[in-house]
Amino acid sequence: MITFLLTLVYENEDYSSPNKHRCSTDKTVKEDFEMRLNFVPTHVFRETPQVSFFDAGVKGSNGSDVVIHHGNAISPPNDGDYKQYYVHRHQIDHNLVIEGSRIFTLINPEWDEPHHIIYLNRAMGALQIPAGTFHRSTSNQEGSIVLNQALRDEKFNPKNEFTPVSLRDRKDIQEALKKDPVYWVWEKDQIKRIKFDPIQSKKKVLYKL
Ligand SMILES: [Fe+2]
Repeated sequence: MITFLLTLVYENEDYSSPNKHRCSTDKTVKEDFEMRLNFVPTHVFRETPQVSFFDAGVKGSNGSDVVIHHGNAISPPNDGDYKQYYVHRHQIDHNLVIEGSRIFTLINPEWDEPHHIIYLNRAMGALQIPAGTFHRSTSNQEGSIVLNQALRDEKFNPKNEFTPVSLRDRKDIQEALKKDPVYWVWEKDQIKRIKFDPIQSKKKVLYKL
């Protein structure tokens, strides 16, 4: 469980409906701008203690990649003392947890809020990661299975898209990581966006990624 000792700023909007999402680059509401991530919902046909049966389709996707973490793995692995990230130029990810849970970190220096941490589970739907966004994920000791239904354009080349980027020489990403993150969690059957009030933030007790 996550322990929060701070004043939280909650929003109770439903992020699982595509119609209610603001696109990540939509800055029409410039005042009081709050970065929104997109979560593509699944359609559950049957959910019982023994059976989960659901439609996981993502409209337009043309890639289906499975990433299995056996235990507490990190994707991509660290470069010594430096974290590494994936960043795609010709692919939009849609990461759906099939089994277990996965913690994603997203960094995009071009966003007003460049740092996001998502505690992703299956109920949240498929986390969309726009092209140009640095991302990595970790599992706990239980491991996890993620299905990424990607949307690839005609310039997609796996040799270029899946090469980890080390933060060793990326001061810009290191700086973005220092910004207070926005947290996304599943609570009371809905996705919640949580941002700590920096004025009242004196302590932070969270899982260290
Ligand atoms: Fe990716």
